[in-house]
This record gives sequence, structure tokens and C-alpha cells, in this order.
Amino acid sequence: MTTLVIGAGLIGSQIARILVERGEKPVLMDHAAQTKAIGEIVPLDRVTLIKGDVLQPLSIVDALRAHSITRIAHTAANPLLTLGAQNDPYSAINLNIMGTVNVLESARVTGVKRVVVSSSSVLNHYLQGGEDQGEFGKEEGFPRPTTFYSATKQAVESLGLNYARFCGIEFAGLRYGAAFGPWSGSGGGGPSNIVREAMRRVLAGEEALVPPGAMEWVYSKDAAGATVLALEAKDLGSRIFNITMGSLTTPSDMATAFSAAVPGAKVKFEAPAGAGISLSNRDTGADLSRAKRHIGYEPKFKLHDAVKDLADWMRRNPS
Ligand SMILES: NC(=O)c1ccc[n+]([C@@H]2O[C@H](COP(=O)([O-])OP(=O)(O)OC[C@H]3O[C@@H](n4cnc5c(N)ncnc54)[C@H](O)[C@@H]3O)[C@@H](O)[C@H]2O)c1
Repeated sequence: MTTLVIGAGLIGSQIARILVERGEKPVLMDHAAQTKAIGEIVPLDRVTLIKGDVLQPLSIVDALRAHSITRIAHTAANPLLTLGAQNDPYSAINLNIMGTVNVLESARVTGVKRVVVSSSSVLNHYLQGGEDQGEFGKEEGFPRPTTFYSATKQAVESLGLNYARFCGIEFAGLRYGAAFGPWSGSGGGGPSNIVREAMRRVLAGEEALVPPGAMEWVYSKDAAGATVLALEAKDLGSRIFNITMGSLTTPSDMATAFSAAVPGAKVKFEAPAGAGISLSNRDTGADLSRAKRHIGYEPKFKLHDAVKDLADWMRRNPS
């Protein structure tokens, strides 16, 4: 059993760590691996780190054959996710949609069955329309994603489900919440970087900024843990799963968690300059019951534990 983890960033490096802790030597593929940051999460001598690009399908096929891969976790995505895709839609559409299709096709032609792909809770949070409420034959039956990034994730889920239906791929799409966690490299989305910068500031005794609206988060270690569960689940059921903390976090919840992790933390509610971060227009968290039923996911890190774990890690890794 050898897993190919595609994308060695905030979440992919944690997937590799969990697999290593379970006794596996996973293959980590990235087109621009940040070796120092990866090495702070998982010992580099316990993984096989290779260069490969999901936009070059032969590099995926080569990796699958050369390392006798039996399952894939695909986490590569465009830089800065929602914000990055708004700035450069064409590249994000190409990478997220065609990159994922290249992964699914490579699995199909080489006979690799299980492919777990990172989707996003933006498909629960950033939606508009659907006035016809699912009614057949009406143009506005279903709400639509309101950003380029979420539109790519919707396409990825739909394409993956059809690879499952017609090509025998054991596809799962995981809708991670906005993720934060240990990582010193570049990567993640706008919110991931806001939490990291806020923590850097409070540890330095400076005032931190947190978004002024509710967000639905997941700790990167839980996103990775859910991915490993989906790689191993016997019955993937309806294949799309919410992977979040299970509730919305208000700005004052976040401030309280920071104060608990770093006594005396000063936190201000304000979107950091230039972040332009979109905030949820929902007032409830995602339903995790499908994820629990089919892959056994329950968040291990609720907000306070997650923020404390991040604080501890950043104290140990001040870079
Ligand atoms: N971070 C979040 O808040 C969040 C939330 C929901 C969903 N997601 C999804 O989870 C997945 C992982 O996110 P992350 O935060 O770990 O991202 P990240 O940016 O930290 O890591 C992505 C990795 O993919 C690599 N990559 C980019 N283009 C590539 C290519 N062409 N070929 C090979 N590798 C390539 C990058 O070099 C990077 O190391 C993504 O699909 C993202 O859309 C992330």
C-alpha cells in the first residue's frame, strides 16, 4: 500500500505526517516543494519527495508507475485559493479543474482506484440564487457558487462523481473548512494566513487582527486526518463530505481562544488591509453526520485546542 500525496503544503504535509506515523512511507509530489517547511512537519527521510506537476499528466502517470502507487490524496490547488483565483481566474480554473482531471485520468489508465480530492466548504458558504428551490425544469433550481475558486471546486466534485459512476474510480471529495495550522512556508488561503499572522503577532506581544465576521474553520491536522480516513474507508457512501469544526466561529470566539492560548493576547476585529476576505453569509455550521457515518470523521481539534496547538508549535518553530 503506497499513497501518493499530491501537493505538499499546509494540509498535504500533515497527511504525509499521519501516514508516516502509521508506518507508511508515502510519496509526496509537488511542482515546487518547500523542503524546509515540509521537514518541520514530517521527517524528510521518512517520505519520498518527488517533483511532479498535475498540469503535466505524464508526470503523474510516471509517479504512479515508478512508486507502485495504490491510492492518491490530491491537495494541489492555486496559490491563495479564493483570493488567488479572483486575481488570476484562468490559471486557477486550469490548475484546479484540469489538474484534477489529469489526476483522475492518470488513476483510470493505471488502475489506481481510490482518489481523495480536496474540495472546500466554500460550496456551503459562498452561494447565491436557487430561488426555484430544487424544482425540476426551473433555471434557478439550485444556488450557484459566487467566486471563481468555489466554481472550480463545484466542477471538481461533479467530475469526480462521474469518474466514480462511469470509470470505477473510488472518488471522495472533502469539503474542508477554512484551514489553519502549523506551516512556515507559503500556501493555504487568505484565512489560513490571517490566523498564522495573528498568532505571530500575539506571540510577539503585538496586537493581532482577526476577521470581523463568522467563519467555519478546520484545523489542518483534522483536515489531514479526515483525508486518511477517506483513503481507508470501506464504504464512501455519497462521496462528498463536510470536514470542519462543525460550528461557526465568531470573532469573539476567536479572540477568546487566542487569549486562552496566549495570556494577555490583544486582538482587534478587522479584516487585515488588502486581504479582501469574503465572509460567510450563513449562520450555521456544516452538518458532519455523513462524514461521521461513512468515514468516521469527528473533529479532534475544536477551536481552543486548535489555537493552543498552533501557539505551541509556533513557540517551538519561531521561523
Ligand atoms: N487552506 C484552506 O483554508 C483550505 C480550505 C478548504 C479547502 N482547501 C483545499 O485543500 C487543498 C490543500 O490546501 P492547502 O491549504 O494545503 O494548500 P497549499 O497552498 O498549502 O498547498 C498546495 C500545494 O500544491 C502545490 N501545487 C500547486 N500547483 C501544483 C501543480 N501544478 N502540481 C503539483 N503541485 C502543485 C503547491 O506548490 C503547494 O505546495 C487545496 O485543494 C485547497 O483548495 C484548503
